[in-house]
Amino acid sequence: MHDATFPARKSFVDILGSAMAYVEQGSGPTVLFLHGNPTSSYIWRNIIPHVAPTGHCVAPDLIGYGHSAKPDIDYSFLDQFRYLEAFIEKVAPGPLFLVAQDWGTALAFHFAALHPEKVLGLAFMEYIRPADTYEAFHQKPQARELFKAFRTEGVGERLILEENVFIERVVPNAILRRLTDAEMDAYRAPFPDVSSRRPVLRLPRELPIEGAPSEFYATSTADHAALRASRYPKLLFSGDPGALISPAEAEAYSGELTHCRLVKLGAAAHYLQEDHPEAIGTSIRAWIEDLQREAAA
Ligand code: BEZ
Repeated sequence: MHDATFPARKSFVDILGSAMAYVEQGSGPTVLFLHGNPTSSYIWRNIIPHVAPTGHCVAPDLIGYGHSAKPDIDYSFLDQFRYLEAFIEKVAPGPLFLVAQDWGTALAFHFAALHPEKVLGLAFMEYIRPADTYEAFHQKPQARELFKAFRTEGVGERLILEENVFIERVVPNAILRRLTDAEMDAYRAPFPDVSSRRPVLRLPRELPIEGAPSEFYATSTADHAALRASRYPKLLFSGDPGALISPAEAEAYSGELTHCRLVKLGAAAHYLQEDHPEAIGTSIRAWIEDLQREAAA
């Protein structure tokens, strides 16, 4: 079922002097849902109801996204991480399951590399990883050219800040079903003007491609090394053909990781949550319940 409304009420918490919004539903072990660019907790709306019977679901809007504030910062990866880490400390301080897509995965991998003892498990999809070429970054030639343009001084500003191309074109084109007008409006709402879109421009410029930018490329490389060495349980979702991650790459990566369950969702591009919410939600719930049964045995 694809529902345009988000039934859960939003809460707000002061983080580093700015309001961060989040939704919260259910009880049990904490399950933290991390969205990517340029979405918000809204993208988890049809997934959380499947997980809430078994977990305390918490889904923040990253700083600058959704209903969270837009302080005057650079919106670099490390800015995003600083706010998220402080949010977790305040709202979800205990051990937790992480569920992430797109830039949410980079944040989840970094959190897990720094605090592995806090991670009960990691579910992830369409993830960020260092790509030594543009061909390795994205499967589609047109998308590679578009992201090169986003990363080009002056061009990215026109496309993302002025023309709002990420919301108007990238999001609907990376979802197989047609979003309803109400759903598109929900994705548009946080970005009404040029300055509100600065976070959306910053993250494509942080994507670790061809060694640049060097700082985040090194961070992402180290975080993936930590992920490959980690022992906590993992759940990897793949779409066909996917966007960043092909079914073959997902299969190969899940084979490299310890305790990794692979779920093939079928036809999907980048925002898997909009095409397969029920399969994602029920798989996360079954995975958590299986882990709890194993732990109790
Ligand atoms: C895509 O259109 O394939 C895409 C969108 C956002 C991030 C990465 C890829």
